[in-house]
Amino acid sequence: MPKLSQSARVKRLCLLFLALCLPLASVRAQSDDALPILVQVLQSADDAQVQLDILKGMADGLKGRRGVKAPVGWDAVATKLGQSGNAQVKELVQQLSLVFGSASALADMRKQLLDPKAPTAQRLAALEALVAAKDASLAEPLRQLLKEPALRGAALRGLAAYDDAKTPPAILELLATLTAAEKRDALGTLASRLSFARPLVTALVAGKLAAKDLPADLVRQLRNYQQADLNAALDKHWGAARESTADKKAEMERYKALLAKAGAQKEDLGKGRAVFAKTCGQCHQLYGVGGKVGPDITGSNRADLDYLLHNILDPNAEIPNDYRTWNLDTKDDRSISGIMARQDATAVTIVTPNESLTIARTDIAKLKQSELSMMPEGLLQALPEDEVRNLIAYLRGKEQVPLK
Ligand code: HEC
Repeated sequence: MPKLSQSARVKRLCLLFLALCLPLASVRAQSDDALPILVQVLQSADDAQVQLDILKGMADGLKGRRGVKAPVGWDAVATKLGQSGNAQVKELVQQLSLVFGSASALADMRKQLLDPKAPTAQRLAALEALVAAKDASLAEPLRQLLKEPALRGAALRGLAAYDDAKTPPAILELLATLTAAEKRDALGTLASRLSFARPLVTALVAGKLAAKDLPADLVRQLRNYQQADLNAALDKHWGAARESTADKKAEMERYKALLAKAGAQKEDLGKGRAVFAKTCGQCHQLYGVGGKVGPDITGSNRADLDYLLHNILDPNAEIPNDYRTWNLDTKDDRSISGIMARQDATAVTIVTPNESLTIARTDIAKLKQSELSMMPEGLLQALPEDEVRNLIAYLRGKEQVPLK
């Protein structure tokens, strides 16, 4: 009966759309009550795009959470969609099964992660899902993956989730061989726990890590642990924190004088771009390249030296509220500093210079907005004079130059 089956299909489609529009909104408002309805819709949805939309909505709403009770009917849906021809559908189903505590999904994901022949994108997705699920025995495999360039950055970031004493030496040993972006990930992870911070500062003191390679925002994170010995070592080897307005004024004048006097060499904008990439680019976009923690500064008043120095040397003079630093401590002693991108009843999303992290409220020990800008003070402090000159020349320029 083609006629009937067609009208049945149309009716089902209409129901589907109704069901889709209503609960998706409530999933985003993170109510677990919507999950069974979505699973019901998934049971009858045959269109891959519809399936994807629903699965994405569910994954988005459950981000940062784990051990959530599986909604009624999930196992049947997971079995059905596990056979989908659409790779993304399969991936999301697995990811959600993991959130619902499925042991077989965990085993499958681990297999994918460690399979050198699996596509990189799939391995990266598995890595992220396993870290999010807090797979307890992941630290060792992650350290093994540091050997693979395609997964190294994600593995470096993922290791921050595990308080494991073998991690700092494994990372520090690699430090000299890492690319600039990997180095940031490595240092970000080492600054993320007090137990990792000690070996990091020891490496700084021993000269295995150059002060100019340790970003100012991470120095601030290290000082946040309020350990007298760490702070003393940072004062000595990186530079003392300058807080008072008088200091800032003196600093402005000092840099102005430095920039006014002719250097031994002419400024090199290409080298300035490299300094920008290392010191500012993790947070700011300039000419379409860079991070999104701070504002895009392409259209700012950067040709004006006073504007630049004022903003670089005294970032806390005036701070738009959205850019104040949030400090989050997890119950397992990880510290995260960044700007708040989203928060709701079940989870918060913090954007750091390295990544965007969604943490379930149940995992949070402390969450506080500080009075300080996410832009750290002391950015120029550890830079040699020629690097400061090149950076400022690059910032005052009108167009992009090739990187040196
Ligand atoms: C850890 C992140 C971070 C780093 C690193 C960083 N900034 Fe910022 N920056 C911010 C944030 C957040 C703001 C906005 C809040 C404020 O003004 O303090 C900002 C503001 C600014 C502004 C003012 C923008 C405006 O809209 O007027 C300038 C200019 C600037 N930064 C330049 C730099 C330069 C140059 C560097 C490198 C030497 C740098 N920043 C490094 C996060 C960062």
